[in-house]
Amino acid sequence: MSLDDAARRHPRTVVVTGGALGIGGGISRRFAADGDHVVLVDIDEGAAAATAADITAGGGRCTVLLGDITQNDTVARLAALVDDAHGHADVLINNVGDFRPAKSFFAKSPPQQWQRLHELNLWHVFAVTHALLPGMISVGSGSIVNVSTVEAFRGIPGNAVYSAYNAGVSAFTKSLAVELGPSGIRVNAIAPDLADTAQTPAELMLAGRDPALLHSWLPAGRFGRPEDFAGVVAFLTSPDAAFITGHTIPVDGGTLAASGWYGKASGRGWTNMPDQA
Ligand SMILES: NC(=O)c1ccc[n+]([C@@H]2O[C@H](COP(=O)([O-])OP(=O)(O)OC[C@H]3O[C@@H](n4cnc5c(N)ncnc54)[C@H](O)[C@@H]3O)[C@@H](O)[C@H]2O)c1
Repeated sequence: MSLDDAARRHPRTVVVTGGALGIGGGISRRFAADGDHVVLVDIDEGAAAATAADITAGGGRCTVLLGDITQNDTVARLAALVDDAHGHADVLINNVGDFRPAKSFFAKSPPQQWQRLHELNLWHVFAVTHALLPGMISVGSGSIVNVSTVEAFRGIPGNAVYSAYNAGVSAFTKSLAVELGPSGIRVNAIAPDLADTAQTPAELMLAGRDPALLHSWLPAGRFGRPEDFAGVVAFLTSPDAAFITGHTIPVDGGTLAASGWYGKASGRGWTNMPDQA
């Protein structure tokens, strides 16, 4: 949608947590390009300022709120900002999440790691949603999209706690959708895989591997770009998705479909099958 087209419809107030970089950055830019007012919450001051500057330079609207979304104070400041400036949020994208604080085998992982993973992957989804829901309920409409992961649906060694909390995000999405349907609010999620972002840089993930064999790992044959995820989020919050609620949509280039059935690079057999002569 061009900004001219976008300006013809009523702009929405869209909150994007972790909206500066990566998937969240793509989501902020997409909603701004569609004519919405983006409230970008991020912990990285420089990145948030740069993304907001890009958006405003392109004619879009963006307000930055700096802070760690896992902190009560940030959630309270966000709720106050939305309340004072906009009355309510039309769209909430709970995007912050990270596997990195605790990449280790479960038996060796200390409970402090589980605690931080909980804050980063699940707790703030509850806290921000809880803080912004009264505004949505008061106007009888709203759309929430949570960012989960394909690891909520398949096993991943070394990330058992991260995957469990993200399964929680998807379960929360389902139950909340049922609870909020009568209030005119839809709740969905996306489950990304293999986005080329600072969290999972393609260069790092491919280090030492032959990039020509990417198709044997990722059916789409390439890593995801922020706009791949942003497009699905934009759809889920649009009138075209008015009859979709309670679902987690994988946006993964086909990896979940291929789970357990990756073709071997040799072209003979599958990675989950015993070797054959
Ligand atoms: N990258 C992938 O392949 C992948 C795969 C599955 C799921 N995901 C999920 O997608 C979401 C986004 O991933 P990404 O790869 O774009 O992440 P990223 O780490 O590249 O970017 C995250 C953004 O959030 C901000 N941020 C981080 N912690 C914050 C905090 N505590 N408070 C406020 N802002 C914070 C960062 O500054 C940055 O702008 C996460 O929930 C992640 O778990 C990503």
